[in-house]
Amino acid sequence: MSDVKAIHPVVIRGTGSYVPEEVIDNAFFEKYLDTSDDWIKQRTGIDTRHRSAAHESTATLATEAGRRAIKDAGLESADIDLVIVCTATPDYSIPMTAGLVQHALGIQNAPSFDISATCSGLLYGITVASSMMDRGAYKNALIIGSDTLTRFTDYNDRTTCILFGDGAGAVVLSQTTDPDRGIIYQKLGADGQHLKSFWVPAGGSREPASAGTVNERLHFMRMRGQELFKLAVTRMHKMVDEALRTTGVTSDELKLVIPHQSNKRIIESVRSRLKLPEDKVAVNIDKYGNTSSASIGLALDLARREGRISEGDLVLLVAFGAGVSWATIMLRL
Ligand code: UT7
Repeated sequence: MSDVKAIHPVVIRGTGSYVPEEVIDNAFFEKYLDTSDDWIKQRTGIDTRHRSAAHESTATLATEAGRRAIKDAGLESADIDLVIVCTATPDYSIPMTAGLVQHALGIQNAPSFDISATCSGLLYGITVASSMMDRGAYKNALIIGSDTLTRFTDYNDRTTCILFGDGAGAVVLSQTTDPDRGIIYQKLGADGQHLKSFWVPAGGSREPASAGTVNERLHFMRMRGQELFKLAVTRMHKMVDEALRTTGVTSDELKLVIPHQSNKRIIESVRSRLKLPEDKVAVNIDKYGNTSSASIGLALDLARREGRISEGDLVLLVAFGAGVSWATIMLRL
């Protein structure tokens, strides 16, 4: 058993998640697009995804997941002294979504900001929070991955609309004095040259929203799927290899691997790289589709609630997304 020590003395004290009520199955798309349940299942692994109601937003999803995580941690809003919302789909350009969430949860004066790192967002958030928490500067951080990608989905584009769902996954990170627990490895990365492999062309400062951009549907996501697929597989293999090599942990010591959920075939390739049985790799893409920043938080919360992971277990989190961005975290719960 590897006795690798924590580099940040923080543990996941609570988790929470939330998905909107409306479920969209593959038959929904079959009704008006040239696609099929078979194609979607075989190429992506997706059966259903959830879509936000008109009154919901990234902040409202995040607030509910955050509320559940604080409760699960046995804490009150007053105990939270740092709030980070990781999202690619903020409620507004100005101000930060984290401020809306902080206010809705009744958290007073805690620094609150957003991180935009697409599907790697939650792991970027945990990494930033854990550094900020060093030497006890912050005691309990609330980090939430929340996205409403369906709001940026072109439902006439069969190559993307079948992929995405909305959701939020939250963690409360707290200080620990136990030297055997905590974050034992983290690595972030990005490569901006692949900007157009997955992007929303208009609505930002480069191409502000106008009647023209709306007519051309430029405020919806565009993806070069195959290109992204290859980048994701290659990078994720490198990331898991490097995490194991650096820590000296062997793959069979891992209790659970939670990869970002963008395609079942990408998840399978990570599983076979690590030579792990199916029950050691978390999969929720079948139910939720690609929920971007939320996917790892959703899976983490479910795994804890199902008792698949508990205190002392070694868990590997690995993400890859638009940007392109990537992130790995290994922690002993
Ligand atoms: O979260 C961020 C990271 N995201 C990713 O990493 C996503 C990576 N990419 C993917 O998951 C996959 O590339 C997709 C699921 C997006 C697409 O799967 P693919 O196996 O790469 O399909 P493809 O793009 O190579 O398309 C194959 C065929 C094409 O038809 P032709 O040109 O062979 O006649 C597409 O037009 O499948 C067609 N196609 C569809 N057919 C039925 C594309 N979308 C659909 C569809 N239904 N929904």
